[in-house]
Amino acid sequence: MHLTEQARATLRLNDKGRYTLPTHGLYPYQWNWDSAFAAWGFTTFDPDRGWTELETLLSGQWDDGMVPHILFHRPDPGYFPGPDVWQGRGPIPSSGITQPPVAATFMAKMLAMDPAGAPRARALWPKLHAWHRWFMTWRLDRGAVCVTHPWEAGRDNAPDWDNAMRAIDVRDVGAYTRRDTTHVDPAMRPTKYDYDRYLKLVQLGVSVNWDHGALAKINPFRVADPTMTFTLLRALRDMITMGRRFGEDVAEIEDWIATLEAGAETLWNADMQCYDSRDVHSGKFNDVLSNASALCWYAGLNDQRARPAIERMLDAATYALPSFDPAAVGFDPLRYWRGPTWPIMNYLVGSGMEEQGLSDLGRRIRDDTAQLISRHGFAEYYNPLDGTPAGGETFTWTAAVWLGWAS
Ligand code: DGY
Repeated sequence: MHLTEQARATLRLNDKGRYTLPTHGLYPYQWNWDSAFAAWGFTTFDPDRGWTELETLLSGQWDDGMVPHILFHRPDPGYFPGPDVWQGRGPIPSSGITQPPVAATFMAKMLAMDPAGAPRARALWPKLHAWHRWFMTWRLDRGAVCVTHPWEAGRDNAPDWDNAMRAIDVRDVGAYTRRDTTHVDPAMRPTKYDYDRYLKLVQLGVSVNWDHGALAKINPFRVADPTMTFTLLRALRDMITMGRRFGEDVAEIEDWIATLEAGAETLWNADMQCYDSRDVHSGKFNDVLSNASALCWYAGLNDQRARPAIERMLDAATYALPSFDPAAVGFDPLRYWRGPTWPIMNYLVGSGMEEQGLSDLGRRIRDDTAQLISRHGFAEYYNPLDGTPAGGETFTWTAAVWLGWAS
């Protein structure tokens, strides 16, 4: 079967009717940013199904505007922590945190591919707007967007969180059984040290019934993050373009963009010469060069300062773009967000580079992503040194990246 056919078959395989699983087994629910990629992938061959995906995602929105990172549509004992642990308070059982807001940007791409979907996009626009307002209300530090849990940034075990994680007291976290390591080699997953802290942060959220103001006061984990800041900045730009077309008032969004642009500058680590995450409690940078540092172009910033460090990281790997600097202590080419290359990040970074005129780098990332997928299938992520596929298999968002960009 041709790869494009295989990619479509992968989306169909993970399709639950109105939403798509990232992959069977390891991730048996609807994940927020995975779903935005799925919607875009579907739109390349079945636009109606693409729009339905976004509509289902937004149907889980809380009354305060937050769109949760997991919607637990149907109980599945194969995943931990499930709805009983999270106790989200939205219309659909959910987690209590969000994920990078890429949905508006994918909606703009879907609209360009399928202009007939305009009425459906128009109906979703106010919901996305409310979600973005939620970020601006609850999650800013000096204009940069913060995460309150490593899972929120999507880059679960990235070294960005190590300093903040050390401050978490896990003595009372209790006993639990992980499920992820029954689906995937534990060497490719976060450690028990990480999981203890992930759970403790969930317990803290539950203890205040996910009241975001109260949580901000007690949470030892609050990190201003390039993933969130850059994806929101980009989403707002796309919201303005779509909002003007739909006759919406976009003045407020223009103000938000100015705030985030100033906030992005607070993430520029002059010593490291890269965008970096910043611990809100200590005020210190984490000194991490990651693939999230390279999302500045996707955010619409034409920043030449950021290029040399990213180029160095590209040159140190066989396949673009490692999630963590191969020259740094702790680089691990197989362990999730501490080294592997991820097609979804490659797409966001590479397409952003192409848009901002760094076409040589963007093309390199696209070609490497295409090679990885054609040689090794639709894996969750890959070893950037030798291409070994890792994590989950038959992965939805990797198939979507093939359909929408790499093929
Ligand atoms: C997981 O279960 O590993 C997910 O990434 C959490 O969102």
